[in-house]
Amino acid sequence: MENNPALCKAIEKAIAASPQQRISFANYMELALYHPQHGYYTTGAGKIGGAGDFVTSPHLCADFGELLAEQFVNIWEIMGQKAPFHLLEMGAGQGLIAGDVLAYLQRQYPDLFEIVEYTIVEKSPAMKQYQQRRLTQWANRLHWRTWEEIAPESIVGCCFSNELVDALPVHQFLLENGQLKEIYVTTDFDSSFIEIAAEPSTPRIAEYFALTGIELLPRDAGATHLYPDGYRSEVNLAALDWLEKVAGCLKKGYLLTIDYGYPAQRYYSPQRHKGTLQCYYQHWHHDNPYIYVGKQDITAHVNFTALESQGEFCGLERVGFIQQGLFLMALGLGDRIAALSTTPGINISTALQRREVLHGLMNPTGLGGFGVLIQSKGLSEGEQKQILKGLKMPNS
Ligand SMILES: C[S@@+](CC[C@H](N)C(=O)[O-])C[C@H]1O[C@@H](n2cnc3c(N)ncnc32)[C@H](O)[C@@H]1O
Repeated sequence: MENNPALCKAIEKAIAASPQQRISFANYMELALYHPQHGYYTTGAGKIGGAGDFVTSPHLCADFGELLAEQFVNIWEIMGQKAPFHLLEMGAGQGLIAGDVLAYLQRQYPDLFEIVEYTIVEKSPAMKQYQQRRLTQWANRLHWRTWEEIAPESIVGCCFSNELVDALPVHQFLLENGQLKEIYVTTDFDSSFIEIAAEPSTPRIAEYFALTGIELLPRDAGATHLYPDGYRSEVNLAALDWLEKVAGCLKKGYLLTIDYGYPAQRYYSPQRHKGTLQCYYQHWHHDNPYIYVGKQDITAHVNFTALESQGEFCGLERVGFIQQGLFLMALGLGDRIAALSTTPGINISTALQRREVLHGLMNPTGLGGFGVLIQSKGLSEGEQKQILKGLKMPNS
């Protein structure tokens, strides 16, 4: 299958340079996606959207960013409508959310627009360049920063991400003869990439299960194994490090994490014995990360329990967890759908098309089934008592 040859060479070089001629799967995924010259996300910004490999919510319509903006306004109100109010977007892709949020605030909530400070943290230089080109009109409202440039406890407002955590490199593990092994990548005689299982590269992999309340191997020698031999899945240590960084930068406010995933018990269900690794190439998804190397996205579902538990360690309170469809409905998606039948002069086929797009945001078997995890830090007792608009159920 067609690979990026320069990237394959770079990965082969990394393997050859490593002490045991093998790199962890996490290292492989990091190189495949983010190698500074040849990685999937480094070689261009056109990967997302209809002409790319996969579609995210903001690529369906501006309503996603606008409804998020409704949540930010509500957060600003809860926090006393003070300035400064920061929005920190992490992993902004083509910058659609930033454009939609800022345009909506300018139109509908000029008071917040006047004082908002919008910052993007973006790892891919190609994506960053694309964002800067797309968002020139907001240049006086918008900054790009690296984590090193953001001072600890400097953010007052809301940090958020959409489909960032699923794009972080994961370690893969395997249960073999009742032992926890890690998957490494090495090269075969014909230079193709192959996997080998060996001792874990870090004790953090075993510790991760304690963090999320999963007993992968029975503690007592004689006890029956819940997980079958050959069971494999992923562990997202990068997500824990990321969360620690965000929590460290947040002084007061909220963290919203939107992504696909499960709570730990569902994630590590014994039946899900092949894990959740997914690759996306021109809207085709499959589970082979060794084809289309550098030309396809590689992702893993998010373990929301791990984010909650790690958050507690880092001083974040769990505010709530809700499906994206319900979250957006609470923020006004239903009203937008209902308004279609009363919009004067709207053409019927435009109305039907728009209805389909809006339904796409809440379809429980698609984007609507994503999880929205909300955590907070530094809020007063009074602020903590207020229920966020996106978490309010009808009639609550
Ligand atoms: C799947 S895309 C999602 C883009 C966008 N949020 C959307 O919804 O369309 C993941 C984005 O996260 C960026 N990214 C990956 N790892 C990152 C990190 N550690 N810090 C900041 N951005 C990161 C990628 O370059 C890409 O822009």
